[in-house]
Amino acid sequence: MSKKVHFSELGLVNTREMFSKAVDGGYAIPAYNFNNLEQLQAIVTACAETSSPVILQVSKGARDYANSTMLRYMALGAVEMVREMGSNIPITLHLDHGDSLELCRSCVDSGFSSVMIDGSHLPYEENVKLTRQVVEYAHRFDVSVEGELGVLAGIEDEVQAEKSTYTRPDEVVDFVTKTGVDSLAISIGTSHGAYKFKVKPGEAPPNLRFDILAEIEKRLPRFPIVLHGASSVVQSYVELINQYGGRMEGAIGIPEDQLRKAAASAVCKINIDSDGRLAVTAKVREYLANHPGEFDPRKYLGAARKELVALIKHKNETVLGSAGKG
Ligand code: G3H
Ligand code: 13P
Ligand code: ZN
Repeated sequence: MSKKVHFSELGLVNTREMFSKAVDGGYAIPAYNFNNLEQLQAIVTACAETSSPVILQVSKGARDYANSTMLRYMALGAVEMVREMGSNIPITLHLDHGDSLELCRSCVDSGFSSVMIDGSHLPYEENVKLTRQVVEYAHRFDVSVEGELGVLAGIEDEVQAEKSTYTRPDEVVDFVTKTGVDSLAISIGTSHGAYKFKVKPGEAPPNLRFDILAEIEKRLPRFPIVLHGASSVVQSYVELINQYGGRMEGAIGIPEDQLRKAAASAVCKINIDSDGRLAVTAKVREYLANHPGEFDPRKYLGAARKELVALIKHKNETVLGSAGKG
């Protein structure tokens, strides 16, 4: 195991102050997933240029893919790059969908400033117990913890749920009190991936359950709420992918106006992964189709990175409302 490091040594912050400002200000902090250099460069460039606080989000799969030591130094490099750009935005390094105490401890020990323990698929009391154990460890190092109640449809790492189970407002106060979590992920109709709803062509997706969100907000005033599965599944990317040899039929996401509405209320962290994947895939496909002789990865990954910067700026400015809040 590589040497222990505290997040403050990497120039990172936990989520306490950024969430409290977001709750008061009616906006949400963006949590963008990354697995590689170009995604990380695009995220921090776009957030520095829009002066938005940012949560850099790493899943278990991403950690396995990129190597945990490599990731720590990538995060350190990202912070230094942002400071060299003259920006002082707060940056959090967060474990997305942690599935065990061991994984969360390992992330705390390797410099993460926030971890999620996802016990949402467990029976309630087991979720409480596991989440409490993570909080007890993480809080010793001032690391923030996100818990989850309710199950999103789709894939949560290796766990595949056919149907969503909405968060029960009756459980939230008990869960937050017993576990001591700093934020709570809820299920109100979003889901992971690029196929969030089954609707007929031209039909609008169903609205998120804002009634459940309002009820949760009433029970937990000013408590930071997290929305997973919040990609809009940008249709121009899906069209480019299909135009240049891909096949993504019926891919559909959460309309931007619904995310804006959620961000204006108790939701203060919005998770986005699929839209970034779509932007990269669309641009790589387009570039390679139009430049069949090109074999320099900097060319096609550079085109993807440029698009990702534009996408993230757009989200910060017009969807999450986080631009200018860094
Ligand atoms: O919620 C899941 C995230 O999109 C991460 O996905 O486990 O394939 O890295 P992943
Ligand atoms: P999307 O698949 O909608 O981007 O959701 C990502 C997410 O919730 C990561 O935890
Ligand atoms: Zn998620």
